[in-house]
Amino acid sequence: MKIKAVVGDITQIEADAIVVNLFEGVKQPAGATGAVDKALGGIVSQLISRGEIKGKFKEVNIIHTMGKLPAGIVAVVGLGDRKEFDFDRVRCIAAEFCRYLRKLNCQRIATIIHGAGIAGLEPRASVQAIVEGSLLGLYSFRRHMTKEPEFKDIKEILLVERQESKLSAVEDGIFRGRVMAEATNLARDMANEPANYMTPTRMTEMAKMLAETYGMELSVLEREQMEEMGMGALLGVAQGSHQPPKLIILSYKGDGTSQTNLGFIGKGITFDSGGISIKPSEGMGEMKGDMSGGAMVMAALSAIAQLKPRINVTVIIPATENLPGGSALKPGDVIRAMNGKTIEVVNTDAEGRLILADALSYAVKQGLSPLVDVATLTGACRVALGGIYSGVFGNNQELVDRMIKVGSEAGERLWQMPMHEDYKEQNKSEVADIKNSGGRFAGAITAALFLAEFTGDVPWVHMDIAGTFRSDEERAYLVKGATGTGVRTLINLALSFAK
Ligand code: BES
Ligand code: MN
Ligand code: ZN
Repeated sequence: MKIKAVVGDITQIEADAIVVNLFEGVKQPAGATGAVDKALGGIVSQLISRGEIKGKFKEVNIIHTMGKLPAGIVAVVGLGDRKEFDFDRVRCIAAEFCRYLRKLNCQRIATIIHGAGIAGLEPRASVQAIVEGSLLGLYSFRRHMTKEPEFKDIKEILLVERQESKLSAVEDGIFRGRVMAEATNLARDMANEPANYMTPTRMTEMAKMLAETYGMELSVLEREQMEEMGMGALLGVAQGSHQPPKLIILSYKGDGTSQTNLGFIGKGITFDSGGISIKPSEGMGEMKGDMSGGAMVMAALSAIAQLKPRINVTVIIPATENLPGGSALKPGDVIRAMNGKTIEVVNTDAEGRLILADALSYAVKQGLSPLVDVATLTGACRVALGGIYSGVFGNNQELVDRMIKVGSEAGERLWQMPMHEDYKEQNKSEVADIKNSGGRFAGAITAALFLAEFTGDVPWVHMDIAGTFRSDEERAYLVKGATGTGVRTLINLALSFAK
């Protein structure tokens, strides 16, 4: 899809549809909406007074122009309550009007820059939000469908700005929005891909493709090297599967003079059957998305490499399947992680923390700091926060606060969970240094405390996306399936450290 900046008057644009807006409660439209109203002989204000157009958040109303304007359709999108209006609402309305107009077979759409008018938001950021919302809301995963889609794709979106002087801000917003959204959609593609396609080997190939395209460094540790390094936890999980495990290490070097190197670690379980502690069959297919953390950090790095902040970032993805093969880990087995700690595996379904134990130990040994890990780690986090907030934990409050802030700027909600050391009691083992499950209660917290055993003193945050990595419904700029959540938070985090 093409997205272009245009200087001009929206009423004069030739397109299948033009998009203007209205806050809730406004009776007499001003600005571009007012101009459209005038050109159409007052029909917009009539529909408002009849109560047909209400300006409710995400509401879309269509008016056919019948030759009175160069565009065939005017869409009036509701912005909702003015006090509630922000960049995330811009993303939401963009997704709504794009999907609405796609259903009407519109191929070329022109829109004003929602938010930059009366609402007074910064135009560049408003544009970025419109582009993000459009590309995210129109996303679909059709790779394995052989029949034609119901709707044709929208071919072109024009962002219409009145003032020539703002053109470069609009163009910059388009670039940033596209990079952020395409990275999110890349993570969605990887997570939606069935597990028979998206194997650890395939994840490695994706990393190679990204490294070549964006000029990043890639190294991949194979089973033998993991053995040499003593990665008994990652190897333990991998031993039940025929797919060879991989430790993917992808680096972006944006600052040759700096010693600081951020580390992003993503859980890369390409399928989680639970292992010998096997999961119930219902809904098990969802666990093809258990590599969402890995997909996410990889996709975020591809965006960072395009935005080129002056900072170094290394991504680490421990990738394997968790299957109950003949040589699989058994409950009660004791394994040894790279940092020397021994772990009693009381539940083979708590595999995420095992592979992350070695990945975090490796990151610490490489001198990466601060560290962020992202994982579909616990059903308990999903029970606690549902699909709206991801859980966030950490050993450094400044870093946690920063994550929450950059996350909310990206429209990704993070809620901090406690890590009081009294919870550690639950992770104590009778036979090893620690056990891999602290039981049902406070499951998201004991999992985070387990990870903390492998981060040393390095500032670290952990993001549990078990509730948010996929969506069962179409909601604003989310569609059914993988959400790509976390990608934009991590991009923003890297940008915030470069400032
Ligand atoms: N990948 C799952 C967690 C998960 C569950 C993610 C649902 C997304 C949706 C993880 O490996 C797991 O199985 N965790 C167990 C841990 C338990 C055995 C301590 C869980 O949450 O049940
Ligand atoms: Mn599991
Ligand atoms: Zn898992």
